[in-house]
Amino acid sequence: MSRPKISVIGAGNVGASAALKLAEIEIGDIVLVDIVEGMPQGKALDLMEMCPVSGCDVNITGTNGYEETEGSDIVIITSGIPRKPGMSRDDLLSTNTKIVKQVTGEVAKRSPNSILILVTNPLDAMVYVAHKVSGFSRERIMGMAGVLDSARFRTFIAMELGISVENINAFVLGGHGDDMVPLARYTTVSGVPITELMPKERVDALIQRTRDGGAEIVKLLKTGSAFYAPAASAVEMVEAILKDKKKILPCCVLANGEYGIKDTFVGLPVKLGRGGVEEILQIKLTDDETKALHLSASHVRELCQRIHDLGEL
Ligand code: APR
Repeated sequence: MSRPKISVIGAGNVGASAALKLAEIEIGDIVLVDIVEGMPQGKALDLMEMCPVSGCDVNITGTNGYEETEGSDIVIITSGIPRKPGMSRDDLLSTNTKIVKQVTGEVAKRSPNSILILVTNPLDAMVYVAHKVSGFSRERIMGMAGVLDSARFRTFIAMELGISVENINAFVLGGHGDDMVPLARYTTVSGVPITELMPKERVDALIQRTRDGGAEIVKLLKTGSAFYAPAASAVEMVEAILKDKKKILPCCVLANGEYGIKDTFVGLPVKLGRGGVEEILQIKLTDDETKALHLSASHVRELCQRIHDLGEL
């Protein structure tokens, strides 16, 4: 029996970190693709040489083409430019639209039955682009953002309360931008909502830090954006799918009327299994939470409209 094949497009910071983590959990063979000559080949070989030490039996191939990606089960798309200090994710729109369009075309042709996970920013708009280009059904195309935003929220709560990150469950919905929707009521420490464990001002402060979480790291790194946590988040989604875990995770998916949102890619709670997005969960939201989610979705629609205005779709 052959192992599942996972292709990672873009072998930069996020792509290479994802490949490293994928190799370590021995979940399948990995193909790393990048336009920079020699770079994906070099990183793949380096990772292969890590395997004896880490004790993982997988094949890792690096390439500048797409033949090796043929018949992939899952494709993670990370190719594109990251932001620099002072930039918003939306500033990447025009450049990354072109890259995601080209890459998705190549991937979809060779792996028509694969599941696509987008990581490139601005995330929700890039999932839309990949959806338009690939024509994949909404079960098989999604974006990684909610897992990362929730992980950031969990980190800050753990730091604040001095409690294990493992005890903290968080839910951040909406688009991957300044108007993301962290749901404090559904964010718990061993089942207890954080709203009962800290004063409102602290909850609000941690929510704000979560919204600014990406920018905080960009400002520190100066030359690029976060990659360890984004890579780990994408790998959690891959694992949920390939192991058919039926795991509930916030992911960017195509809403078709759920939460009163239509034809828009936005972060919602989904069940991930071998079929990809197997279900979109409809949890009860307050009027304010619904309003915030709708606002976030309308921002995503505006960005998608800008892509059409640019003549890219
Ligand atoms: N085909 C393949 N690879 C490409 C292409 C392309 N058309 N265009 C760019 N790339 C590659 C670059 O050569 C680079 O190696 O994508 C890689 C991106 O890596 P980094 O610059 O290190 O950026 P990274 O931090 O990995 O972020 C990638 O993910 O989180 C988002 O906002 C982030 O949009 C950014 C993306």
